[in-house]
Amino acid sequence: MFTIITGSQFGDEGKGKVVDLLADEYDMIVRFQGGDNAGHTIIHEGEKFKLHIIPSGILSRPRLLIGPGVVMNPEILIQEIEMLSEKNIIIKPEKLGIDAKTSIIMPYHIRLDELGEAVRSEKIGTTRRGIAYAYMDKVARDEVQLSDIVDEKRFKKRINEVLPQKRRLIKSFGEDLDEYLETEEEGWVDRYVEIGKKLKSYLTDVSREVNDALSSGKKVLAEGAQGTHLDLIHGTQKYVTSSSTIAGSACTNLGVGPTRVTGVIGIVKAYITRVGEGPLPTELHDETGDRLRERGGEYGTTTGRPRRCGWLDLPLLRKSVNLNGYTEIVLTKLDVLTGLNPIKVCHAYKHKNKKFEYPPHETHILSECTPEYTEFEGWNEKISDIRNYNDLPENAKTYIEQIEEIVSIPVTYISVGPDRREMIKKPDL
Ligand code: IMP
Repeated sequence: MFTIITGSQFGDEGKGKVVDLLADEYDMIVRFQGGDNAGHTIIHEGEKFKLHIIPSGILSRPRLLIGPGVVMNPEILIQEIEMLSEKNIIIKPEKLGIDAKTSIIMPYHIRLDELGEAVRSEKIGTTRRGIAYAYMDKVARDEVQLSDIVDEKRFKKRINEVLPQKRRLIKSFGEDLDEYLETEEEGWVDRYVEIGKKLKSYLTDVSREVNDALSSGKKVLAEGAQGTHLDLIHGTQKYVTSSSTIAGSACTNLGVGPTRVTGVIGIVKAYITRVGEGPLPTELHDETGDRLRERGGEYGTTTGRPRRCGWLDLPLLRKSVNLNGYTEIVLTKLDVLTGLNPIKVCHAYKHKNKKFEYPPHETHILSECTPEYTEFEGWNEKISDIRNYNDLPENAKTYIEQIEEIVSIPVTYISVGPDRREMIKKPDL
């Protein structure tokens, strides 16, 4: 069984919690793209941990893997491993494997991300983690891989090979790379060498592990990062991340054939959020938007930035269903809508007398669209303690079932609170 899970919106739909919930049903959880621009929070013995690189499911049984399509900041990974070990969650190589070909984020990638964003007249609002520049190096074949940093000699040879062009590039922004590294990143080469030694035993061939697991009847869950409309190819360019975030990307990035896929789970937040710039047709600049942000805790896990909030956007969801081929939907954060009346859902956009039920392909047109809404009656009952679908208020059930009907995909779970237990399994009706 090979299941892929992706965010259907702009990230932050609550994938981490869903993966944590499903984790015990799987033998392996694999991350296939992105880097420490992503983030999820886990709660262990009442304490909260924010993780950016280690896949979700750390407290559960499965083996965790980081695939070669990830761009990994090794310092962040080591910090996460050490932070967890202080809490007696020990991440041994038997638990975590990292593909030898995983791209390494270098200090100059992060600096270039900062410099690049600073000179853009219209910002993207990146997380400044060096993601785009690490992927650029992969495409340009100038990346440093995990297999390089675990070997001091090879690592030093590799950086001597790539540093001259980085110096020139950074000079084009009016800065001196060596001076920057000496003042801001003193001792970085030694640090990377030390980390390389620590990570050596985690090295693996993810494609082979996943294929072998599937061939022996094991269950594998591929966990996407960010969300569908931040996809590098099909998203709202230029306001996107630098990797492909949709389900097919799991196959490419993990080296697993599409014939192996058995299911694709879409995570849909009951409203929509976006962090960073770019179109968000249903964005609310009023009290309701503020209320969604506060009630939903809508602040970035990675950057702490307030997220932009709006009503659920069905044209975007229709596109997500196409891009990912969802077989089921998990609806998250339904509890955040409690007390709002009416609850609105965007069923179409208007743009210069034209109506769109599916997003216009051009980002600039999407950003000029105004939403048309269907209104639903809200509910006031607290729903976080409910575990049985039939106990939900009638209006909440209507909301869920309407979404199901419109996109023709079954909703299988509904999340009604941040805790792992605050989840309702929806029976087949
Ligand atoms: P980058 O991935 O740091 O280059 O940022 C590009 C865009 O993707 C920015 O708008 C970021 O805010 C957004 N982004 C990147 N990672 C995440 C995420 O995990 N959740 C939500 N937005 C993200």
